[in-house]
Amino acid sequence: MTNRSNVRIAFINQKGGVGKTTLTLNCAVGWARLGFRVLMVDLDPQAHLTLSLGDSLAEGSLERIEHNTIESALRREKPLTECIFEVAGEGVSLVPSHIDLSGAEGELSQELGRELLLRDALETLGDRFDLVLLDCPPSLGLLSLNALAAADEVVVPVQAEYLALQGMAQLMKVITLVQQRLHPGLQWNAVVPTMVDPRTRLSREVVEELRRHFPDQVTRTLIPSRVKVAEAPSFGVSIFGHDPNGPAAGEIEDLCQELVERLSLTLAERDIVI
Ligand SMILES: Nc1ncnc2c1ncn2[C@@H]1O[C@H](COP(=O)(O)OP(=O)(O)O)[C@@H](O)[C@H]1O
Ligand SMILES: [Mg+2]
Repeated sequence: MTNRSNVRIAFINQKGGVGKTTLTLNCAVGWARLGFRVLMVDLDPQAHLTLSLGDSLAEGSLERIEHNTIESALRREKPLTECIFEVAGEGVSLVPSHIDLSGAEGELSQELGRELLLRDALETLGDRFDLVLLDCPPSLGLLSLNALAAADEVVVPVQAEYLALQGMAQLMKVITLVQQRLHPGLQWNAVVPTMVDPRTRLSREVVEELRRHFPDQVTRTLIPSRVKVAEAPSFGVSIFGHDPNGPAAGEIEDLCQELVERLSLTLAERDIVI
């Protein structure tokens, strides 16, 4: 296994409601519990990740959060390092989003080098984090292209539902274009079936179909549909904050462990202070 730190992982699928934001938060906390220093970046103008954590970020005042977002960093109004907020009780950090990001996307699309704005901003983090998780919006616009151009790895959550594969061909095409034109090092090693209901035949068939199409990418670990997972954001916490001993937390732990192997993630060697 090669030694990797500062690995950036884009959680991407242009479909909305497939579990990107939920998986980003739960994997972030799951990896933090394994010892990784994790930063999440909310790249969705709908700011679901930011809103779901709202109160847990309140140590920075709400006003400060509004003025120190990923938008401010992409516009180069603020250094990214000033837009990082600790998520209380979860051991992870977040760069928040704001609805204004949708306007910024239009304006930034006029800029030279517009696909590389996020990559440049992330370069300023040095080795402060081991993993940077990019929660993408439900589109393949400029923000998602920035995520792909900045990422080392792509994780595609796919809801185990009717028409699950719809849109995958287009996503693959965009990933290939980014590899060819912007970022040859971009790896695509994980498709994660989400909201799986093993009791239904449809759900099982969708997972089988995914495995047929993407035999090397589909994870062994499936993420079932669980009420506790859906509830957690309303409490402003991950599944580990909501139901640490339930089955859903165990499933996220399994997925985090599998992705450590699949993406060859290793902890950076650091001096251990006792
Ligand atoms: N494993 C799961 N079990 C139950 N509900 C889930 C699960 N994952 C996500 N959800 C719910 O599905 C909806 C969409 O999830 P979300 O993560 O916001 O998707 P996306 O970011 O792709 O739009 C949310 O209401 C969320 O609470
Ligand atoms: Mg989302």
